[in-house]
Amino acid sequence: MFLTGRTVRAARALPAGPTPPAVRTLPATRTFRAVGCAVLAALALAACGGGVQGTPGGSGVRDPYFPKAGNDGYDVTHYALDLAYDPADRHLTGTAEITARAVQDLSAFDLDLKGMDVERVTVEGERARWSRSGQELVVRPGDELDRGETFRLTVRYSGTPQTITDPDGSEEGWLAGDDGALALGEPTGSMAWFPGNHHPSDKASYDIAVTVPEGLQAVSNGELTNRTTSDRRTTFRWHTAEPMASYVATLAIGDYDIRRSTVTGTAAGELPVYTAVAPSQDGPARAVLARIPEFMEWAEYNFGPYPFSSTGAIVARPNVSDYALETQNRPVFPGAPGTELFVHELAHQWFGNSVTPKSWRDMWLNEGFATYAEWLWREDHDGDSAQETFDALYDHGEDEHKDLWSFPPAKPTSAAHISDSPVYQRGAMVLHKIRQTVGDDTFYAIVQGWAADHRHGNADTDDFTAYVEETAPGEDFTGIWEDWLYGEGKPDRP
Ligand code: TRP
Ligand code: ZN
Repeated sequence: MFLTGRTVRAARALPAGPTPPAVRTLPATRTFRAVGCAVLAALALAACGGGVQGTPGGSGVRDPYFPKAGNDGYDVTHYALDLAYDPADRHLTGTAEITARAVQDLSAFDLDLKGMDVERVTVEGERARWSRSGQELVVRPGDELDRGETFRLTVRYSGTPQTITDPDGSEEGWLAGDDGALALGEPTGSMAWFPGNHHPSDKASYDIAVTVPEGLQAVSNGELTNRTTSDRRTTFRWHTAEPMASYVATLAIGDYDIRRSTVTGTAAGELPVYTAVAPSQDGPARAVLARIPEFMEWAEYNFGPYPFSSTGAIVARPNVSDYALETQNRPVFPGAPGTELFVHELAHQWFGNSVTPKSWRDMWLNEGFATYAEWLWREDHDGDSAQETFDALYDHGEDEHKDLWSFPPAKPTSAAHISDSPVYQRGAMVLHKIRQTVGDDTFYAIVQGWAADHRHGNADTDDFTAYVEETAPGEDFTGIWEDWLYGEGKPDRP
């Protein structure tokens, strides 16, 4: 496909996405509580003022694969992290100021935090009792929180953040070396470096401030709003206005060449591009990153308006991590990326970061789309067509992906398998089956409409199948869902 001008590959006009929510100003929450008690007193209910009405929030959100991830009872709207780190002693000190809304009357609630020493917790400025149990930090505020109340919580903590080994054996959390550190969070690694509601269903805006020894750099999500040096330490302040799931929060500290440029002509106009490259990767990485405007143009043409207010990449030196991750605004790559890997991680900004899974079961909605983006890129750039890629996978896929038919994309067998090839390759095959059924115009309407409808939200597989059925009402998708999405084993020849 030859691209003319910066248009959107649209079968229909796209609705403009909602304006990203600004960081909220908070109402004086104590007022709500006082009113609530006054009303209760008037009704002669004795429980107010000392009595316990609320119940503790749950220690997880019943994710089918990570039952302890996330917490019930509140919803975070903003994280303000103020961190200091020195690679010389691998010590992190942090204050997390978390703004959240209670979704039930709460006598206590949990945060997820793995390792680290907690020094002090306050709720609405008052010291709160807390305890720890595994990855749960249980906070008991002096005054109960009322349902609907917005509250501010601070946690002061310090220590050496942990590297976490995933159920699939990969390493995430805090990956530290003598010369720096890299934070990667999929699926549960972010609890190694800040306390929070670490489940994709609770997205929030972020301000991440990081102080490092002068001469080192600190790169995170969003836009760099300030950088100051004093006492031989430099503080970098990064701001993320759009909702972000904590698993795509990142922080890279070390010797990086950070550059800011712009990409023009995107749906939102001009966007900042921040790239951070480890010096050893300079030549090959800069050659790929110079093409970011081209990748952005191609991606908007296919997927619709880019959902965030800056873009870029972080290229670490190889071996810090052995995989790439679609960290919001700027994916992390373990060394200079190839074109298709770059396109994969860029596609995740729409599919994963803006439209985020409701649970880890819906992982194929991330990886199926990002893998299909690679197929489309190839098709649009004189490589195999998506049909050829599909056919080759169907016929010989097991040569390269030996577990390709071991489970259906929408039902990984366990947490250890959420990043296996049925989620990626067979997930992409589901999308290709839909395209075969509806044709290109409707297919791109589905791809772009799905991204637009759930922009900055959360969605699951049922939402997706319902969306496809709504958008192509004349077609019957039952066979695709039964055989390709949910069916065990290799589907019959298409
Ligand atoms: N999401 C990453 C990608 O496709 C890969 C990945 C890294 C991953 N860590 C993971 C997938 C943990 C599932 C679970 O670019
Ligand atoms: Zn991916």
